[in-house]
Amino acid sequence: MQLGVCYYPEQWPRAMWADDARRMAELGITHVRIAEFAWSRLEPRAGEFVWEWLDEAIDTLANAGLKLVLGTPTASPPKWLIDAYPEVLPVRADGVRWNFGSRRHYDVSSEIYRRECVRIVTAMAARYGRHPSIVAWQTDNELGCHDTVPSYSDAAVARFHAWLQRHYETIDALNEAWGNVFWSMEYSSFDAIGLPNLTPTDANPIHLLDFRRFVSDEVTSFHREQIEVLRVHAPNADLLHNFMGFFTTFDHYRFAADSAIDVAAWDSYPIARTESIALPEEQKARFARTGHPDVSAFDHDRYRGIGAGRFWVMEQQAGPVNWASWNPVPASGMVRLWAYEAFAHGAELVSYFRWRQCPYAQEQMHSGLNLPNNELSPGGVEVQRVAREIAGSVALSTLAAPAGAATALVFDYETQWMFEIQRHGKGFDYQTLVFDYYEALREIGLDVDIVSSHADFSGYRLVVVPSLAVIDHALVKQIARSDAQWVFGPRSGSKTGAFAIPGDLPPGALQRVLPIQVLEVETLRPMLAPALIIEGVQGSALHWREHVRANGETRVVARFDDAWPAVLTLGNVRYVAGWLSHELHRKVLQTAARDADLETQLLADGLRIRQRGGLTFAFNFGAQAVEAPAPRDAVFVIGGPSLERGDVCIWKEA
Ligand code: GAL
Repeated sequence: MQLGVCYYPEQWPRAMWADDARRMAELGITHVRIAEFAWSRLEPRAGEFVWEWLDEAIDTLANAGLKLVLGTPTASPPKWLIDAYPEVLPVRADGVRWNFGSRRHYDVSSEIYRRECVRIVTAMAARYGRHPSIVAWQTDNELGCHDTVPSYSDAAVARFHAWLQRHYETIDALNEAWGNVFWSMEYSSFDAIGLPNLTPTDANPIHLLDFRRFVSDEVTSFHREQIEVLRVHAPNADLLHNFMGFFTTFDHYRFAADSAIDVAAWDSYPIARTESIALPEEQKARFARTGHPDVSAFDHDRYRGIGAGRFWVMEQQAGPVNWASWNPVPASGMVRLWAYEAFAHGAELVSYFRWRQCPYAQEQMHSGLNLPNNELSPGGVEVQRVAREIAGSVALSTLAAPAGAATALVFDYETQWMFEIQRHGKGFDYQTLVFDYYEALREIGLDVDIVSSHADFSGYRLVVVPSLAVIDHALVKQIARSDAQWVFGPRSGSKTGAFAIPGDLPPGALQRVLPIQVLEVETLRPMLAPALIIEGVQGSALHWREHVRANGETRVVARFDDAWPAVLTLGNVRYVAGWLSHELHRKVLQTAARDADLETQLLADGLRIRQRGGLTFAFNFGAQAVEAPAPRDAVFVIGGPSLERGDVCIWKEA
C-alpha cells in the first residue's frame, strides 16, 4: 500500500524542485511520475535532445529517496513535428482534421508518427533505462482519450485494407462473411473498401465491427512498439500504461496480453466519472460529492483482471477537477476514503494527480495535493493522514494481495462494440447493464472479480454474465463441467462473430446447456414497461425484453404480466430475458448466490464492503450515518463501526 504523485518539474522553477521532493517524501509519498507531456522540452528541435534538466529533476527526486515512474512523452507531439508532418494529425468521423494546440493530436495509424515515437522512446530509454531509481515506465498517456481514436485518415484506410486481407485472405470470403450481397455492397478488391463513416444511412454492422476490431489492434500495436524498446533498455522496470475508467475503445484484455504489461494502471476520478456516465439524474445528484459507491470499485475490479493481476491507480482525484459538466468539491473524507477503497480492491499504489495545482493553461482549475501557492490542499491533508495511518499500522503496512473472489462478473469488449453499433433502442448500453449487475452484487455484500469470457472459471461459485454477444463452444464446455451457478442476461448468444443472428436463433451455443430460443426481441420506450414480480419484489423490464420459448426440461421461474418468461433455468444455468429494474436484478442474484451457497446481506444505502488479506474494509458513500456490519468482537484496525458520510473502517475478525 504505497502512495504516489504526478509531478511536472518542467512547469515549475528549478529552485522549487528540491523543496518539492523533500515535502513529497515527508508526506509519505514513495513514487513520482514525471515527463509524460515533456516532449517539447526534451527535443525542442528535430533531433536536438536536451536531457540536462530531466537529469537534474530525476536526481533531485531520487536523492530525496523517491522512486520514479518515467512517462514516454508521445501523447503530446511538439509543434515542429506537426509542422514537418501535418498528416500525423488525426481525422474525425466527419472528415475534419484535428488541430494542434492541446494534446493527443496524433493518428495511431500514422507510420510516420510511429517512427517518431520509437525514436524518442529509444533515446529516452537508452539514457534512463537502467537508472536505479526509475522503477517503472508509463507508455504514452491514456491511449484513445479525447476521441482521437479512431482516426478516419488515409493512413488508417491503408492499414485497414492490410488488416482485412490478413483476416479474410480473399475478397470473396470477405463479401460472403459481411453479407455484401445486401444493398449491392459487394467489393472487387480490398483496396476498394472505405472506412464506415459518412454513409447516408447505417453502414453494414460487420464493417463497423471489423473497423472497431482493427482500431483496437492499432492501439495495441502502437503501444507494443514502445514496449519492445523499453524491454530492451529498461529490463528491470515495471512497464505499464494508464487506462481510463468506463473506457472501451480498445480490448484491454488483448492489449495487456499482447504487450505483456507488468501492471495495469488506471486513472480514477470518481466524482467526474459519476457525472459523465449514463446514471439516472437522481443518483448523480445523490453522489455528487462522493462519487457513486461502485464507480471506482468497478474499474478497480476490472483492471485487477487485466493482464498479470497487479494494478495501480496512476492518477487519483485529490479534490475538484476541471473536466466534467459540474465539478464539485469532494465531501470531507472522500480523498482518504478513495485511497483505502483502491487498496481494499488490491491496488499496490495510489498516485495522486497532481502535486500542485498549475495556475496557468488548460488545467488551472484542477486541484492537486497543494494549492497554487504551495500550501497543502484539503485533499493533501487527507493524503497526509492516510500516509500516517498506514505507516502506523502493522496490519496495513504488511497487507497481503487480495485472494480471488467467489463471484465472477464477465465483461466483454466485443459485446460493448456490437451493442454500441446496434443499440436497437435508445436506452441499451451494455456497460451500463454490466454496471447495474455489479452494483447489485456489491449491495448484497459480495466481492467480485471482473474477468474476460475466456477466463478459467473453475474457482468461482457464482458467474454472472450480464450479456455476451457471442457465446463460443469453449465457454459452453466450461459451463457444462462447472458446478457454479451461472446467470446470463439478455442478448447473450445473440450474434455470431460475423455479426449475424445464429442459425438456430439466440442464445446460440448456450442452448446446449440451457435449451431455450429467443423468438423476437423488443426495445422499450420509457413508458412501455412489462411488469413482473419475483419472490415478492415488484418491477418491470426496462430498455429491452425478449420473447423466449422454453424447450426440453427448461423451467420458467418468473413471468412478465403478459405471460412471456422472464427468468428461465435448467440445472445451474439461469437466463434473464430482459433488462430488469434494479431491485429485480438484485433479487435474481440473491437467489443465485443462495443456490451457490454464498452468504449475502443487504447493506445499508451507500455502504460498501470489501475483503483483503483477512481484513474487511467498509466505506460510507451515503448521506446518512450507518453501522458497518462488523461482528461484535471485531478488532478495528482503522475507525469503528459507526460511519458518517466519507468515513472508512477496517477490521479483522477476532
Ligand atoms: C487525465 C490525464 C491527466 C490530466 C487529468 C485531469 O485524464 O491523464 O493528464 O489531464 O486527466 O483530471
